[in-house]
Order: sequence, then C-alpha cells, then structure tokens
Amino acid sequence: MDTHFTPLLLLTSVHLLLHISAHEFLLPGSALSVEDSSDMLHSPNGAFTCGFNNISHNAFVFSVWFTNTAEKTVVWSANHLQPVHSWGSKVLLDTDGGIVVKDYNGQLVWENGVYSSSNAEQAQLLDTGNLIVKGQGDIILWQSFDSPTDTLLPNQNITSSTKLVSANRLLVHGSYSFHFDDEHLLALFQDLKDTSFIYWPIPENNVWSKKGNSFRATTIGVLDSWGYFLGSDDLHFNASDWGLGVMRRLTLDYDGNLRLYSLNKPNGRWSVTWMAYLETCFVRGLCGMNGICVYTPRPACACAPGHEIIDQSDRSKGCRPKFSLSCNRKEMKFVKLPSTDFIGYDQSQYSLVSFLTCKKICLKDCSCKGFLYRDGNCYPKSFLGGGLSSPQLPGSFYLKLPKTLQVLASSIPHSQPSGPRYDPNCSVNADFLDKPESSHRGSQYLYLIYGFLSAIFCVEVIFVALGCWFILRREGKHLTGVWPAEVGYEMITNHFRRYTYTELQKATRKFKDEIGRGASGLVYKGVLRDKRAVAVKRLADIKQGEEEFQHELSVIGRIYHMNLVRVWGFCSDGPHRILVLEYIENESLDKTLFSTKDSHILLQWNDRFKIALGVAKGLAYLHHECLEWVIHCDLKPENILLDENFEPKITDFGLAKLLNRGGSNKNVSRVHGTRGYIAPEWVSSAPITAKVDVYSFGVVLLELLKGSRVSDWASDADEEVEMVLRRVIKMLAEKLMLEGGEQLWITDFIDSRLNSQFNNLQARTMVKLAVSCVEEDRRKRPTMENVVQMLLSVDEASGIIQQYSASSKRV
Ligand SMILES: *[C@@H]1O[C@H](CO)[C@@H](O)[C@H](O)[C@H]1NC(C)=O
Ligand SMILES: *[C@@H]1O[C@H](CO)[C@@H](O)[C@H](O)[C@H]1NC(C)=O
Ligand SMILES: *[C@@H]1O[C@H](CO)[C@@H](O)[C@H](O)[C@H]1NC(C)=O
Ligand SMILES: *[C@@H]1O[C@H](CO)[C@@H](O)[C@H](O)[C@H]1NC(C)=O
Repeated sequence: MDTHFTPLLLLTSVHLLLHISAHEFLLPGSALSVEDSSDMLHSPNGAFTCGFNNISHNAFVFSVWFTNTAEKTVVWSANHLQPVHSWGSKVLLDTDGGIVVKDYNGQLVWENGVYSSSNAEQAQLLDTGNLIVKGQGDIILWQSFDSPTDTLLPNQNITSSTKLVSANRLLVHGSYSFHFDDEHLLALFQDLKDTSFIYWPIPENNVWSKKGNSFRATTIGVLDSWGYFLGSDDLHFNASDWGLGVMRRLTLDYDGNLRLYSLNKPNGRWSVTWMAYLETCFVRGLCGMNGICVYTPRPACACAPGHEIIDQSDRSKGCRPKFSLSCNRKEMKFVKLPSTDFIGYDQSQYSLVSFLTCKKICLKDCSCKGFLYRDGNCYPKSFLGGGLSSPQLPGSFYLKLPKTLQVLASSIPHSQPSGPRYDPNCSVNADFLDKPESSHRGSQYLYLIYGFLSAIFCVEVIFVALGCWFILRREGKHLTGVWPAEVGYEMITNHFRRYTYTELQKATRKFKDEIGRGASGLVYKGVLRDKRAVAVKRLADIKQGEEEFQHELSVIGRIYHMNLVRVWGFCSDGPHRILVLEYIENESLDKTLFSTKDSHILLQWNDRFKIALGVAKGLAYLHHECLEWVIHCDLKPENILLDENFEPKITDFGLAKLLNRGGSNKNVSRVHGTRGYIAPEWVSSAPITAKVDVYSFGVVLLELLKGSRVSDWASDADEEVEMVLRRVIKMLAEKLMLEGGEQLWITDFIDSRLNSQFNNLQARTMVKLAVSCVEEDRRKRPTMENVVQMLLSVDEASGIIQQYSASSKRV
C-alpha cells in the first residue's frame, strides 16, 4: 500500500497545481475535464465563463457564456454540432497553440486548427468574452472572436471570413445566417440545402439603394461599447438603451431574427433593444410550404386548411395537402383566410380588377393555388410559401380547395394581436402549434435538448414582446400611418413573375428580333409593358414537368448578383418554356475579345481584369453563397455578357439542372459542356463538382490574357485543343518557376494588340491562377472563392496594391 501512496500523492498535487492555475489560465499540456464542474476559466472581471456546458443531462459542449444571467446564455461554442459525453471528455491546450476537444473515447470532435511553430504560453478568457491562445511575446495565436457561432459581442468584428449561424434545435446547422454577401453588404440569409436567399434587408430595396457602394475594399462590422452597430457597407443600428456600461450581445436567434439584447443586471434577464424584423413572422421560411405563421401571441406555425404537418420536429418543412386538386372548375371552392398572405410567391399581379375577375383568373389556371385580393389588386399564387397571418395585414387570401373538403372554422389560422400586454405562460410548452400527443420514446436525448431550447425560446419571447413595444414607442413618430412591413411587401412581390405566352409574343413582336442562339435555345429582344428591355429565351428540349420547371425557376429567379444575368420571370404555357432575362447592352465576350475586325473596340487591360474578377465573383456566388448545386457546367466567353461598362454578367447558369431533370440520371453528366472548356472529369466517370467551372474559368482567363481562343493556338492542324492547352500550361508553369530575372515571357504571352500596356503583377497573378485552375486533379484546383481573393489582392481599384507594386519595382 505504502509504495503506491507516494506517486498517488504526487499526482494529486500536480493535479491540484494545474487546477488552481486553470481558473485564470489554461497552460500548454493541461486540460479542462467535463466531470469537474469547477474546471472552468473565468474572465478577470468575472463577466464570462468558459468550460463544458451541459445541453442535456449527458451531453456537453465546450462553450463561453455569461456568468451572471438568469438563464445560461452561451455566446460561443466549439462543438455544438457534436456534443461530448458527460464522463471522460476533455479540452486540451497543446504546446503549439492547438486547442482540441476530445470525447470520452478519445475521439477528436473539435480543434481550433492552430499549429504554431512558436510555443503557446496560455489560453485565457478576456474581459470582452474572447477566448484567446497567447504565444510568446503576447501575440495572439487564435481567438474565439474569429469564429463566432450565433452571437457577436461588443468589439467583436464581423468580417468577410466570419458569419453568424442560427443555432438549431436539433443539433444540425441552423438555416439562417448573417454575413457579408458577395457585394460586401451585410445581410441575413436563409440557407437551404440547395440555395440561399437574402431576406433582410429587403433584397430589392437594399440592392438599389446600395448598388453604388459595392466593391468596397473593407468588409468589417462591429458593435461598439455604446450599443451602436456600424458596418463598412453603412448598415447601422443603435440600441434603444444606447450608452456605456451595459452588457450586450447581438444574436441571430433560431427563428431567423437578428436581435440586440441588453442585460438587466439586477435580475439577470435580457431585453431586446433592437431587432431586424419587428414581426418575427416575416422571417423567410419559418413555417415552410403551405404553412402559415400566426401570433398566438407568440409566433407559431399552423397549416393552411386542408393540409397536414410534414415533420413535427421541424416545422420549416411545412405542410402537405390532404387532397388532390383536379382541374375541373366545378369541383373547386375558395376558402377565405382573413388577414393572411403568402409573401413573395406571386405568380403575377392584376391591378384594378373585381373580386370575381380575380377568382376567375385563379379558377382558369390549374397551377393557381389561391389568390390574395386587396384594394382591387389581385395576386394569384402557384406556391403557398412565406405564409403568415397578422391582424395588420390588409386583404384576405382565398385558398382553392376541392368542394368536397370540409373546412372547420377552427382550422382557419387566426392571429391574435402581438402586444406588450401579453404575458406568456412559460410552463406551457412554448413551441410551435399542433404538438403531437405523445413524444417519441427512443429520442429522449433529443427530447431533452428540445425541451431546453423551448424554454429559452419562451424566455426570449417575453423580451421580444417588451423590446418590440419599446422600439415602437420610441420610433412611433416616424412610422405614422405606415406599417413597416408593408413596404417590404411590395418590394418582394414585384420580384419575379410568371408571364403568359401572349404577353411575351406582344413584348417580342411575335419573336421578331433574334439576338442570339445557343445550345439551350433562341434568344429574342423584347420590351415589356413597363418599358423594361428584356431578352426572351425560348428553351428547347425541356423534359421536365410543369411543376418541377416552375419550382426550379422560382429558385433561379431569386438568385441575384451583379455578375449574373437577372432572371425576371418565365413562361410555361402548354409546350412553351421561356425565360425572361435582363437585357444586356453589349455583346458576349467572345465577340468583343476575339474579333479581328477594326470596327470592334479592343478590350483594354483594365477591362480584361475587371471581366476576370467579375466572372470569378459571379461563379463564387453560384458555388458558395447561393446554391451548392448551381454549377454552371458550360462557362465560356459566349456565356459571358458585357454591359455598357464592360462589367461581365454570366448567363445560362442553372440551365444544366433545368435541361436535365426528366431522366432517371440526376447528375449533370448528360449536359455537355463545350470542347476546349470542359474539365477532364467529364470524360471520366468521376462526379461533376463545382471544380468543372473552375477549370473552364482557367481557360477563359488564358483567353482573356492572350486575346484569342485556345483552339486557335494549335501549332499544327493535328494538335487537339486539349493537347494545346496542356502544352501551354506546362510552358507557363515552368516560366512561373523562374523567380526574378527577366520576365519577358509574360509580354510575349499577352495579347500583342495591347502593345505591352498591362499591369505586370495582375498579369502574373492571372497566369498563376489559370495554371492552377486547369489542374488535371480537381482537388488541386482552387475554389472560386480563393480565386476571387487572389484577384482582389491585386485589384488596383482596391488601392492596396499600388504601394506593393511600387515597392516591388524598386527591387
Ligand atoms: C445541466 O446540469 C444542471 C446541474 O446538474 C441541471 O440542473 C440541469 O438540469 C442540466 N441541464 C440540462 C439541460 O439537462
Ligand atoms: C477589429 O478590427 C480592428 C480594425 O481592423 C482591429 O484593430 C481590432 O484589433 C479587431 N478586433 C479584434 C478583436 O480582432
Ligand atoms: C444612438 O442613439 C442615441 C440616443 O438616441 C444618440 O444620442 C446617439 O447619437 C446615437 N448614436 C449614433 C451613432 O447614431
Ligand atoms: C400555465 O399553464 C399551466 C398548464 O397549462 C397551468 O396549470 C397554469 O395554471 C398556467 N399558469 C398561469 C399563470 O396561467
């Protein structure tokens, strides 16, 4: 016994030593363990605590939270998507500055990704709530402020590389995020599997008022200690209790609303002092298709009459119809839903029509699911998304249902006024309506988490209600007579619409003025009734059904980026499948770039660089910001249009998907790219990823540099275009390896028509990018986001580069 005693004692005292220091610092080689509830770091002022936080009785997350609040308020967490077990899990600091979270079985669930060559000194929690790893000489090797979860604290920067993601109830990524968009504007996004939509600031509104501000070099936003938030895009807001000495947080709540909270120190509760949407029901997609957001008075989801819930645990999946609607007018009726609308899903708009006419319009159209009638305006809808009911909504919605379907008055969703007098009962489950009678036996683990979050939600709603009232009181004077959401209403609904064939026939004067023809169809110029010039594209070869086509288009129609051709609407009438697109003044890039005619203007260097950057931004948006699956698949100069300022706009994106549904084969391999621009994996059976566009982009870059088509570079008639490309790339790669020395080869390579008038650094960067973009191995190609970053770093417009190129010339 005695022999064992000494080492044990030693161990205990070592443990004790580490332990004591662990309250302020975590030293390299030491750990915080999940069992010991005192194993935590505190900020010197005591305001924040960092350690393992239980989200259910046996699941823990390494987090930072406010120390003194009534309900635990987490501001940052490491492994929230993968909690660890309540026994044996730890978080360790390595000597190289790495922090790792390990589960009971030693499995690595999270790491901060730091492998510093200099030794880490300690990890500590600052007074601001920032968890940092300090290296020698007080340098910060890593900080939690750089990877926020759903909360931004005062003095924590939001930059182009950070984003807030709403916390979801079921341990999966939330579907809302707050970050800078591709045009360096801060926005709230709804992220779906395939796509993401901006829902705040109201997109149309925002784009037009801020268009002039894009291409800023800086992207940063910060909430200061006074409660004022200011972004580099001029997005700003002010806490209603503006002033120093208040603890605040800006949180993207799981209901998709961004709220600024202030802590009431005496009772440890939060109150809302600003929020993005005064009415939470206006947040996109809360209740899914055929769902209606109602105030009970707290926001909750109900189904449209005649519909049933799809997934009780995730109401954003919406509801499905319990009936099938025939196309026979005699078998249909309309059920009135007062003060209800489905926002953003108008098929079209008819002004100054009678109620009966509106009803007839919807009866006649089999795809019409109902209509909104308001002050003589008629809005038929073919999708019931964005549903909400609010006493303030003007007009009523008329839902089309089979005559035989019984609709009880109690199944018609009604909202109560949401007001400050409401005092919610927190012992009632605060979740969305229509709770199931029994909870799932097997999922007790999730159930616990679920219950916990419901409680938070309930607490929040109280403060939301109070905050709302507060803001309305303060701002009431500015809002007289205008219901704020009404403004947004008009904005969203004018966005994207369906056109009839007759309308388009009229607009194009019976398809008279052909302006282009491509693999996907013929393009005509047209002028709409509101005098907008449009390009009308008749699609050939659409195999998919009408509903699918419309659905896909409603996705494409919401893509908005200055380097992508805008889709204004579509027509799907009988056999006709037509797209209505933004009309672009100048011709496509191939005509301008490759023309040898004197009548054509020569594209100068700055324009070529601008085109490269713009195309990269457009693709990056398609790949990363917007739709995972929007791979262009046919990028080439023909599909790059130029506006009057030679700003590029990519067209025909999304067609790969559209043209390829009907078949059993759901990947895109049946759509063929264009020889010379297609990546090698098209030929092999490897899956097609966004990297095929990166490849095509590389080829376009080379053509921009050289001013002629790759296929024209062959040294003899027998050389295949793929061989030419490989030969040129090999040559360029070798030249790039020659650091320093004479760089004459660049001048030799670049379009001789430019007479050596080009920016050397930009040209070199473009060559480098082109070489890496057309790598045979697609994993070695950069992403479009990387490409944009690289190009931006040598963009003269951003001003950073001048100094750099000046100093490099001196060398
Ligand atoms: C977390 O642990 C505390 C203390 O053991 C307990 O009171 C609380 O109910 C737990 N929380 C959850 C969500 O299980
Ligand atoms: C936030 O950005 C400012 C300006 O770029 C910088 O000085 C400051 O250190 C940043 N703060 C943090 C916590 O990174
Ligand atoms: C924020 O609001 C306060 C009080 O209304 C005002 O004094 C202050 O100037 C505002 N701050 C900014 C930056 O607008
Ligand atoms: C809250 O709801 C519970 C359960 O429905 C009920 O028993 C309780 O009386 C309610 N409390 C108040 C203050 O209404």
